Amino acid sequence: MKTYLTGIQSTGMPHLGNYLGAIKPAIDFSREHEGNFLYFIADYHSLNSIKDPKVISEQTYEVAATWLALSLDTSKACFYKQSDIPEIFELTWILQCHIPKGDLNRAHSYKAKLQANEEAGKKDLDHGINGGLFSYPVLMAADILLFNTDIVPVGKDQIQHVEMARSIAQRINGHYGDLLVEPQESLSAGKYIPGLDGRKMSKSYGNSIPLFCTEKRLKKLINKITTDSTGPDEPKNTEDSLIFDLYKFFSTKEEVQVLAKKFSDGISWGHAKLELFEKVNEDLSKAREKYNHLMDNRELIDRELENGAKKARVIARETLSKVRQNIMGLQS
Ligand code: ADP
Ligand code: TRP
Repeated sequence: MKTYLTGIQSTGMPHLGNYLGAIKPAIDFSREHEGNFLYFIADYHSLNSIKDPKVISEQTYEVAATWLALSLDTSKACFYKQSDIPEIFELTWILQCHIPKGDLNRAHSYKAKLQANEEAGKKDLDHGINGGLFSYPVLMAADILLFNTDIVPVGKDQIQHVEMARSIAQRINGHYGDLLVEPQESLSAGKYIPGLDGRKMSKSYGNSIPLFCTEKRLKKLINKITTDSTGPDEPKNTEDSLIFDLYKFFSTKEEVQVLAKKFSDGISWGHAKLELFEKVNEDLSKAREKYNHLMDNRELIDRELENGAKKARVIARETLSKVRQNIMGLQS
């Protein structure tokens, strides 16, 4: 049976793009396939960008509550947070000692920061870059290798990190004999979900629709979607309509055909937005209730994460003990 593992940073309440592009496919995949599934919250990864304990903790709850509210089956998928697995950090150091520094120099995320400093005319190209960002790929490799992961579903931007994890595993296996499973990446996100302004929906563009905002705010945000100046009764083009694009993600083929007909007959943008709001709201309202319930009863989230960590640590201890024996000559 294959092992699938992916991590989610605790960067706050996910948006529709995260939901349709990453969370929903991962939950559906674990429901529809056989395998070992490990989905975890990479809260220590967030420490790179967030230096406020209240914020990290709050955002970790928000992300955990989201996955649980969307009915992740935690009896099938092991759901935990990174900070509950101390073995990850011991393995990180061991891996750190087996990766050429040059590989880390070539990591996209680090190179992008260097380039930004160069463009800003900074003398020190490492200005503002902390060691955590530089060695981020090693922590991520430990997340993956500790659990004998075969497949890592990730977005395009994370592929290089999985390649680095594989390369560390290969180097270690070459030196110490077959010790670690060499993971493969699999592209998780299909099409990018557009945001309110038509660009990729992203927290960093300020164009996103938070998954569990109130009904009122959802309506308000959908009303903000950019439209052209076609009059209310004039036929409208479905091809370049953001409303139509988003509607498709929440509807059946038949429902999409009905809306397409309305577009060609002429529907006001106001009505089209209302139809979109109703569809999205219908899809999310039950999960929203569950989300709010979990956020008001955080001990339920704690319990799920603790159970997940207990299960995950059984695997973690086994791998680490093998690694300690074979790499350090330690007997326990
Ligand atoms: P953001 O750009 O809002 O910071 P992240 O980079 O944290 O989002 O992405 C978390 C996950 O959600 C990744 O797997 C990413 O591929 C997916 N994702 C983010 N934005 C979108 C989008 N607009 N459409 C589809 N998937 C997305
Ligand atoms: N770096 C990933 C991101 O920013 C999150 C992550 C951390 C991860 N550890 C992982 C993803 C291990 C897959 C496997 O999205």
